[in-house]
Amino acid sequence: MVFPEYRPRRMRQNETLRALIRETRLVPEQMIYPLFVMPGKGKREPIPSMPGIHRMSVDQLGKEAKECLAAGIRSVILFGLPDKKDPMGSGAHAKDGIVQRAIRELKNKAPHLNVVTDVCLCEYTDHGHCGCLIGNNVDNDTTLELLARTALSHAQAGADMVAPSDMMDGRVAEIRSALDENDYHMIPIMSYAVKYASAFYGPFRDAADCAPQFGDRRSYQMDPANSREALREATLDVEEGADILMVKPAVAYLDIISRLHDDFDLPIAAYHVSGEYAMIKAAAEKGWIDGDRVMAETLLSIRRAGADIILTYFAKDMGRLLLNS
Ligand code: PBG
Repeated sequence: MVFPEYRPRRMRQNETLRALIRETRLVPEQMIYPLFVMPGKGKREPIPSMPGIHRMSVDQLGKEAKECLAAGIRSVILFGLPDKKDPMGSGAHAKDGIVQRAIRELKNKAPHLNVVTDVCLCEYTDHGHCGCLIGNNVDNDTTLELLARTALSHAQAGADMVAPSDMMDGRVAEIRSALDENDYHMIPIMSYAVKYASAFYGPFRDAADCAPQFGDRRSYQMDPANSREALREATLDVEEGADILMVKPAVAYLDIISRLHDDFDLPIAAYHVSGEYAMIKAAAEKGWIDGDRVMAETLLSIRRAGADIILTYFAKDMGRLLLNS
């Protein structure tokens, strides 16, 4: 069928028809909102490179959880800023660590909120790398045990799901067995399976104070030039027991999201990261783009590429926009 019998505009005439044939939708319950938790009381500090996002102390989390739920957002992911850092990142698995306290507070104040935790050492090590060092090298196998202890301590504090973001080889299996041995076989693992060594993490490293003090993360995070390697990384994580596969960042890697969606039958998550958020906020502040529309279009593109779940600093704003439209 060709023009003039077939006219694509026929189905675009009005919003009822457009909505009837819409292929992709954003829903608040498939978005995860990141929270940065810091020591102290009554603290709520704006992050300059991420307008609208704050670091906050544990006592502020109840209020924050209520705002998320009011916007339809049912999941958060926690990042912690510890009081002290050391070479082994021991604050990551401390029983009374910042994230462990945050989990207890959230579970107490908002029991139905799905509390996910980022499992990594970079916020807790004094050198800022995601694992422990031997010389100047991030040592894979000694890091695994620390990551497993961290994930277990999150589960013990009441976390609903753990999300390892360190990119060490073998960490999903190590975390799965640590959880299972301690009767946490029902805690899912959302693996940052395909995480690239990206310049888009810049604002996050200011927010979470976790920039590496020397070198970079290219010996463990993926080379942005590679896509077939992404399939191999994802395959390993499936074999090791991941429940959800994540791609990160999102917009510059829509092709990767799409390939994972086609090749794997696990749910796919995508992390719309700090730099991606900051660029939209900055251009909107200058009046160069319509911030709300670019937000919605960007998040929609991530869904259309094949992500079920989106981790995004826009979650609350987008949730509110969806509820009011
Ligand atoms: C920790 C971690 C990072 C992000 C999530 N977990 C930083 C990094 O790998 O350097 C980035 C998130 C963002 O930029 O929004 N490893």
